[in-house]
Amino acid sequence: MAATTTDQGTGPTGARSTEPVLSLTGVSKRFGAVQALSDVSLQVRAGEVVALVGDNGAGKSTLVKVIAGVYPADSGQVEVEGRPVSIDSPAAAQHIGIATVFQDLSLCDNLDVVANLFLGNEALRRRTMDEVEMERRSWELLRQLSAKIPSVRIPVASLSGGQRQTVAIARSLLGKPKVVMLDEPTAALGVAQTAEVLNLVETLRDRGLGVLLISHNMADVLAVADRVAVLRLGRNNGDFEVPHTTNEEIVAAITGATNNAVSERASRTAQRRADQEAQP
Ligand SMILES: Nc1ncnc2c1ncn2[C@@H]1O[C@H](COP(=O)(O)OP(=O)(O)O)[C@@H](O)[C@H]1O
Ligand SMILES: [Mg+2]
Repeated sequence: MAATTTDQGTGPTGARSTEPVLSLTGVSKRFGAVQALSDVSLQVRAGEVVALVGDNGAGKSTLVKVIAGVYPADSGQVEVEGRPVSIDSPAAAQHIGIATVFQDLSLCDNLDVVANLFLGNEALRRRTMDEVEMERRSWELLRQLSAKIPSVRIPVASLSGGQRQTVAIARSLLGKPKVVMLDEPTAALGVAQTAEVLNLVETLRDRGLGVLLISHNMADVLAVADRVAVLRLGRNNGDFEVPHTTNEEIVAAITGATNNAVSERASRTAQRRADQEAQP
C-alpha cells in the first residue's frame, strides 16, 4: 500500500479514499476528421461510483472503449492504483483489473446463464471447472450480487432486461476486477428493472470496486453516483460531488450553458475585449 501524500490537485474530493484506483490524464482520440476525445482526465477511487455523463456524441463510449482496450488512445496516460499501465487490448484491460459491460451486453441469447458467464473464460474452465462447478460458481456470483435470477439453466433470451444486465455484470466480476465500467446499463429498462440495476451498482461499490457508470439519465446518476464527470464535445466540462450539486448544474455543464475553465477564460477574454471596444 504505497499511499502517496502528493496532492494531485484533483479538487476538494479528498474525503472519500486515498489515491484513485483508475486515473486518466490527457487522453485524446481521433477518428479521421472527428476529434472524439481531447485531453480528457478522469479519476475513479475504490468504493466510489463516478457517473460519466454527456450529450450524444460527447465521447463517453469512446472513453470507455479506450479504457477497455478496444481503441488505442492517440495520447495520454492511464494509471491503475498509481502505476502507469498500457492497455493495448481488451485482454490487457482485464488482466490489469478493468472490467467492462458494454452497451450491447454481448450475451449469447440461445445459451443459458452458466454458459454465458463462463463463455470466453476457458482458462478458468480448463483449470478445474466442470458443469457442476460452473453452476455452483454461477449461483455464488449471483448471490453476491443479491441478484434475482429464477434459474441459471435457462437461455438468457428468456430473462428480463434487468436480469440480462445482471448476468453481464456478474460475468464482468469473474476476473476479480478493481474497476467496473457500465455503459448505459439502464437505457433500455423500465422503472423496476432500473432500480434493480442501480441496487447492483451500489453492491459493486460496497464491495470496494471503483465503478464508472455511463448514463444520460440524470435521475439514475443522482440516485447512485458519488461524483459526476461531464464530457462535452470530447472534453472535460465539469466534475461535481453529488451531495453538493444539482440536476440543473449538471445539465448546464452537459449542454454547455456552463463551460469548462478553458472556454470560460476564453469567453471572459472576449467579453473584456468587447467591453474595452465599447468604451469611448
Ligand atoms: N468508430 C468510430 N469511427 C468514427 N467516429 C466515431 C467512432 N466512434 C465514435 N465516433 C465519433 O466520436 C464521437 C463520440 O462518440 P461516442 O463516444 O459514441 O459518444 P457518446 O457515447 O458520448 O454518445 C462522435 O462524434 C462519434 O460520431
Ligand atoms: Mg455512447
